[in-house]
Order: sequence, then structure tokens, then C-alpha cells
Amino acid sequence: MSDSSDGTVSASPIKAELANDRTLVEGRPNRGDQIELTVESFAHGGAGVARMDGTGYVVFVTGAIPGDRVLAEIGKRKRSFAEARTIELLEPSPDRVEPRGDHPGAPWQVLSYERQLVEKAAQVKDAMVRLGQFEDPPMRDIVPAVEQWRYRNKIEFSFAPDAGAEGGIACGFHPPGEWWRVVDVEDFVLASERMNAARAQVVGWARAHGVAAFDRKTRTGSLRNLVIREGKRTGQLQVRLVVSETGLRSLDLESLIDAVDCDGLLLTRTSAEAEVTHGGETILLAGRERLEEELHGITYRVSAEAFFQTNTEMAEELYALVRDAAALEGWERLVDLYCGIGTIGLTLAPRAAELWGIESIPQAIDDAMEAAQREGYKDRASFVVGDVRIALPALLERGFKPDVAVVDPPRAGLSQKVVRRIVDAAPKRLVYVSCNPTTLAPNARQLVDAGYVLQSVQPVDMFPQTPHIETVAVFERGPNGVQNPDRD
Ligand SMILES: C[S@@+](CC[C@H](N)C(=O)[O-])C[C@H]1O[C@@H](n2cnc3c(N)ncnc32)[C@H](O)[C@@H]1O
Repeated sequence: MSDSSDGTVSASPIKAELANDRTLVEGRPNRGDQIELTVESFAHGGAGVARMDGTGYVVFVTGAIPGDRVLAEIGKRKRSFAEARTIELLEPSPDRVEPRGDHPGAPWQVLSYERQLVEKAAQVKDAMVRLGQFEDPPMRDIVPAVEQWRYRNKIEFSFAPDAGAEGGIACGFHPPGEWWRVVDVEDFVLASERMNAARAQVVGWARAHGVAAFDRKTRTGSLRNLVIREGKRTGQLQVRLVVSETGLRSLDLESLIDAVDCDGLLLTRTSAEAEVTHGGETILLAGRERLEEELHGITYRVSAEAFFQTNTEMAEELYALVRDAAALEGWERLVDLYCGIGTIGLTLAPRAAELWGIESIPQAIDDAMEAAQREGYKDRASFVVGDVRIALPALLERGFKPDVAVVDPPRAGLSQKVVRRIVDAAPKRLVYVSCNPTTLAPNARQLVDAGYVLQSVQPVDMFPQTPHIETVAVFERGPNGVQNPDRD
């Protein structure tokens, strides 16, 4: 999956602290070394934290949980820490539970759900304390997910050549740290049976027609990714096959259309270097181009390029929290930054006098405007394409002053410049939806230093069986107003 549930190690308080440590540890391992380690705790992003016997040198290990004794292979190596992947589980942690599906893509299924929630809540608090420097952050209890399995409405499978698999191709997920290899996943535990069936149809077609998978080392072969989206409320299914530039020529598209039972079949041709499913050139092969899905009674038509929350049921819970936190009375001007197809803004629109949404993907803005029109908000809801950093000040210059702002940035969080733009806009209330506590926390510190008061921090579990965690943080303009500390 593209949302990095592959166990990559993200920035974390412990990593940040280690990076500042100038001590050069003697006896550091080298890339490729295989060493035995006991995992002590989780780092942000879900890797295990282990210390080498004797030196105490820190190693972040993917594929392992606290209490595991593993044989791990060293990858990247820095002055004060290294990254490694588990190659053998020597002694399992007593906390391990039996996974439903022993495959990549759902790495925390070896932990009980209760334990997952405890870890996630602790990680958000830890980030706020250590990266945000809040002594006692106003934490709320984590909201558990309604469904713990088969909840995803979008899956991004990868293809790769695999001599051991039927037809020489595997379709599934990369094991942690192995970007070139794919483990075949017939029954993905977070996908519905219908989505898994669609995957089987495409794979069956590829095997029957001898279509080659894309080899990431030699950059040859056709099939790169398979993106399946399901409207959990509408019952619609969309299948999009992502192929290499050269791979298209060898495809019998008529037989593909016959083989796959779905409401919309699309084909994307891309030469991207990275493992991404966006970009490239997409054509419609059969059925409808956009998937329809409903949230809080509003129907959205979602373009293939547009972001849509991957857990429909929990997106409704998340937006209800945002709606409560925004506490609109009906007279307020609302701005929805990083709005995607406008889902948060339109959920809040019944109680907003004016709504502006800003988003960088043009197709998402088209989807948002269309939904606004259908819902009867054409006169008071507007959506603009642009980078928030540039489009927000442009909106302010045109005289729009938001009373309430919602921000929902990608994992990188808000740049300092964007924080300054928000402070310039000075909404009385700011609701920050974050998919990464390690970027939320420093942003929260910047906002508080500029005069906002942090009211609450609410973790929400939208992604059971993975280390991912969503958080809603609420800020109010302080009694002395807010001030941009260093205007640029
Ligand atoms: C986490 S998604 C949130 C979307 C939406 N709020 C929702 O709940 O579906 C972040 C969105 O920010 C958009 N985005 C990323 N960088 C941006 C930027 N610099 N300016 C505007 N939008 C951006 C992405 O395309 C994506 O739609």
C-alpha cells in the first residue's frame, strides 16, 4: 500500500534525539550485517527499537514487536542509529497473537486490538510531549475503529515477477525493506471479499494471457500496480490497472474488460521512477470513470487522482469530531485547507455562512465543486486549485477572513511558511486533522508560540492492524490574539 504501512521508519522523537547525539559508537554494524537483537519498544511508524548488546547502539527493526528476539539485517546506518529488517524470528514476544493473514500490508495484526490502541494513544502523547514540548498535553481517549478487519475502501496492490508463483507473477505487497519483491496476497485481511475477488480476476487474466509483471530492478515488464476502490455505501467497485510505458503494447484490453466484473475499469500508463499510482496517463476502458461514495448523506464522485479517506465508516466518525470541534453557529466563514474533494467543508457547510476550500489536485477540486453544486451550496461554497502556501494569502488579499479553519495536510504536516499564513489569517478556531503525530506536534508548538491555545488532542483509530494513527487537535485564538513571530 502506498500509505507506508510497509513498516518504513518515520521521523520520531527517539530518532530526532539520536540524530543530535554526536557520540560515535564504537563497533557499529555495517550494511548487510546480520545480528541478533531483542526489541524493547515501538518507534513512531511501527518499527521496533532495539539496542545492540554491549554498545547500546540503537537499531530500528521492521517486522518485529517489543519482546521479540530476532535475526535482523542492517540496512541504512548512521552515526547514532541504524535501520534493519527482520529476517528470522528467533524467540517470539509473549505479546504476539496469531495473525489472520500472514502477509505484509497489515503489520500490527500480531498485536491484540486493545494493545494497538494503547500503543497509538501513547505515540500521540509521546510526540506532543517530546516533539511539541507540551508538558501535559490535553489528551482525549482514543476513538477505536468500528470495524477492525476488511474496512479499507481502497487497496493498492503491487505486481512483481516471482518465479515461484503461478504464471511467474505475484500481486500483493512489498515486504518491509524489499522494494523489488512482492508477496502474493490472495486474501488481504483489510479488503472486502469483493475487492479480493476483483484482484483474483485481474491476476487470473494476466496469468492466462502471459502478461509480464514489471521488474523494478531491470525496469522491464508491464504490470506495475492494481488499484481497487469500493464505495462502501454505494456498492460500486472501481478497478485501475497501472502499467509501464512500454507494457501497454502487449496487453489484450478486450479480454481484460471481459475478465473483470466492476463498475469502472481504468488503465494508467506511467513511467514514474517511484512506486506511485498517481500521475501518468489514465484512460477509461469500461463503465464509469469516477467512483461514487457517500459520507454523511452526501454523494461524492471521486476522480482516480483524488484523495478520499480510505475507511468510509471512520471518515464519518472523524468528520463528526471535526464538526463538533469546529462548533459552528451558522454565521462563521470557514476555510478548509488541503480539502481534497471537499468532504470536510461540505460536511460542515450546513452551519457555515461561507466556505472556501483549497487543494492542489485540479480533479479533486472539480469533484468538490460538483458535489457543492449538487448539494445546493453553489452560492456559499467555493473551491480553488492551488498550493495552500500561495492560495491562502491570495484569498486573504481578496478580503476573505476565516473565522474557523480546518487543516488536513499530508504526512509532512504544515511548513513553517504555511503556519505563518494561518497565523496571518488569524481564525478564532483551528481544527487540525493529522495523519502523523510527529509533524502535528511541532506544528502545534509553532501555533501555540504564535498565541493559539491548544484545547484538545483526540487520537482516532482509522487504520486497525497498522501503526497509522489519525489525530484531531483543536486550537483557539488566545486572549491576546495571535502574532506572526517573524513575518517573511
Ligand atoms: C490528507 S488529504 C486530506 C483531504 C481531505 N481533507 C479529506 O478528508 O479527504 C491531504 C490533501 O492535501 C492535498 N495537498 C497536498 N499538498 C498540498 C498543498 N501544498 N496545497 C494544497 N493541497 C495539497 C492532497 O492532494 C490531498 O488531497
